[in-house]
Amino acid sequence: MSANKSGDGGWKTFIWNSEKNEFLGRTGSSWFKIFIFYVIFYGCLAGIFIGTIQAMLLTLSNYKPTYQDRVAPPGLSHSPCPDKAEISYSIEEKTYKPYVDHIKKFLKAYNIENQREESKFEDCGEKPEPYTNRGALESDYGLRKACRFNRAWLKDCAGLEKKDEDFGFNEGKPCLIVKLNRIVNFRPRPPASNESIPEPARPNVQLNLIPIHCTNKREEDAEHLGPIEYFGLGPGFPLQYYPYYGKLLHPDYLQPLVAIKFHNITRGYEMRIECKVYGENIDYNEKDRYQGRFDIKITINS
Ligand SMILES: *[C@@H]1O[C@H](CO)[C@@H](O)[C@H](O)[C@H]1NC(C)=O
Ligand SMILES: *[C@@H]1O[C@H](CO)[C@@H](O)[C@H](O)[C@H]1NC(C)=O
Repeated sequence: MSANKSGDGGWKTFIWNSEKNEFLGRTGSSWFKIFIFYVIFYGCLAGIFIGTIQAMLLTLSNYKPTYQDRVAPPGLSHSPCPDKAEISYSIEEKTYKPYVDHIKKFLKAYNIENQREESKFEDCGEKPEPYTNRGALESDYGLRKACRFNRAWLKDCAGLEKKDEDFGFNEGKPCLIVKLNRIVNFRPRPPASNESIPEPARPNVQLNLIPIHCTNKREEDAEHLGPIEYFGLGPGFPLQYYPYYGKLLHPDYLQPLVAIKFHNITRGYEMRIECKVYGENIDYNEKDRYQGRFDIKITINS
């Protein structure tokens, strides 16, 4: 009994010992020192944390991505961009409407009436020219102007005239619109010489142009491909549209386009086509079907 009593008393005394003025076994000044210790301790931790983040942020640029390895060389994209990279339609049943709608939507940004504002756009010539230098990324030029790209340059694939409103799909001569994906501060370099690229692509080599060339993917399909025509500022991507300064500095930027028209793909045949761009700093990757090239299957049924 007595042990129990003294135990109770011990417990209470432990919480508040009025003799020694101790709370939970420590005096006020001891608690105060512990409190101060932890304030300083966590203060330092927070300081180190904020300091390293700030130092990290200082090394980042608002304008240029620090790490670009994931997107390294440019990808190609095209419109229409069907599932499984397979265009298949019937002329008679007019089943090409989804493709035509995709191109119409894609080309809207290239309507010349959206490119009127002189403060945002400028003319960069109607033939391939050298790179347009708009100052270094980190300089104080502010917003950069974008080169106009007039949809009408895509001629038969522009979809501006009544006869072309279906982009050739209705005649079995479909158009494909192709662009190189944007990469901040990237200057694609054209092939050093005609000899560095495959023979069939050489006619598309021009000064100040990244040539694009499409051909049959399988050798045995050669006779089914028919003639191909390229529209734009040439059969490729003209250099005056590069470099791109990024979303913040170059908000109105338009990528140059190339339209590819397939004039006589054999009807009822699954035609496999490969399109490739050629340049000194353009590579291809087995695993990435869109890096510097793309494959597409086109089946046109009457
Ligand atoms: C490459 O060859 C094509 C014809 O095969 C020619 O039109 C073009 O001018 C040549 N380009 C260069 C840079 O030699
Ligand atoms: C289209 O290709 C076929 C062979 O697939 C050929 O017989 C025909 O003459 C070609 N048409 C034109 C206009 O070149």
